[in-house]
Amino acid sequence: MILVTGATGNVGRRALELLVEQGHKVRALTRDPQRAQLPEGVDVVAGDLADPATLDAALDGAEAVFLFAVPGSGPGFVAAAEAAGVRRVVLLSSGAVEDADLASGPIAAYHADIEQALRGSSLEWTFLRPDVFAANSLMWAGQTQGGDVVRGAYAGATGAPIHEADIAAVAAAVLTGDGHAQQVYRLTGPESLTHADQARIMGDALGRPISYQELPAEVVREAMSAHVPGPILDGILHAWSSSVDRPAPVTGEVERITGRPARSYRDWVLDHAAAF
Ligand SMILES: NC(=O)c1ccc[n+]([C@@H]2O[C@H](COP(=O)([O-])OP(=O)(O)OC[C@H]3O[C@@H](n4cnc5c(N)ncnc54)[C@H](OP(=O)(O)O)[C@@H]3O)[C@@H](O)[C@H]2O)c1
Repeated sequence: MILVTGATGNVGRRALELLVEQGHKVRALTRDPQRAQLPEGVDVVAGDLADPATLDAALDGAEAVFLFAVPGSGPGFVAAAEAAGVRRVVLLSSGAVEDADLASGPIAAYHADIEQALRGSSLEWTFLRPDVFAANSLMWAGQTQGGDVVRGAYAGATGAPIHEADIAAVAAAVLTGDGHAQQVYRLTGPESLTHADQARIMGDALGRPISYQELPAEVVREAMSAHVPGPILDGILHAWSSSVDRPAPVTGEVERITGRPARSYRDWVLDHAAAF
């Protein structure tokens, strides 16, 4: 049986659905089963990764775990997983861990701590380190629902946005296949795009003239500070500013591991058109 944590999130939900489609026996962990809305037939178990004492029922009989990175949860999870006899753990880590501009920041630090706990364990581990999620564009939905201009910082900030379905497909392949133990996979979308490129491609896909209007970073910091903690926000703004004029790295790992090319940003927009 495979335990999927983060099962109500962008990636975990897709990974869970794919594993069910493939016929694997799957269990989902969530802090709130009443609100989870997971597919029929999935065994949904309550638990909190921040409190390892709550994980026994979820880990009981699990051979493999897809692990969402809750800050500070590494050592407690590892002890609980080892005690339960789990063999394999696939961690949804972050490309920030190996990005020169982000590696010293808080996002990289808490993912690296969990990687460290797994490295020191007796478990088979695999770290998935994705680049920026295409799903980050959902932040723009409020603006595109009201017009054709997206306002934000650093029009020229780059990334190689990855579709959550591709991360999920890699996760499913690694959870169920051999040859991935003690491996680190840097996952990206198929091309480096700026914020302005993403707005233009979104417009093309939706048949609307969507453009990106750059605002001063301080204005954006103020607006985002209501939802994002200060140190994380600093890290994001720093990463955006230092990526301007520097194409983001693109890896072929999605295709190598799943046998299918990584989905384009345009594909992602079409899959989420209703949101915009
Ligand atoms: N956005 C990016 O560009 C990017 C890039 C690289 C890496 N990442 C990493 O990817 C992850 C985000 O993935 P996502 O977008 O799929 O997630 P998401 O949509 O933000 O969903 C969060 C998930 O985590 C679960 N969760 C949160 N705290 C929990 C806890 N204490 N115990 C158990 N479950 C908990 C939630 O489950 P319940 O609420 O149901 O309990 C939910 O399923 C983060 O670690 C992020 O750093 C993101």
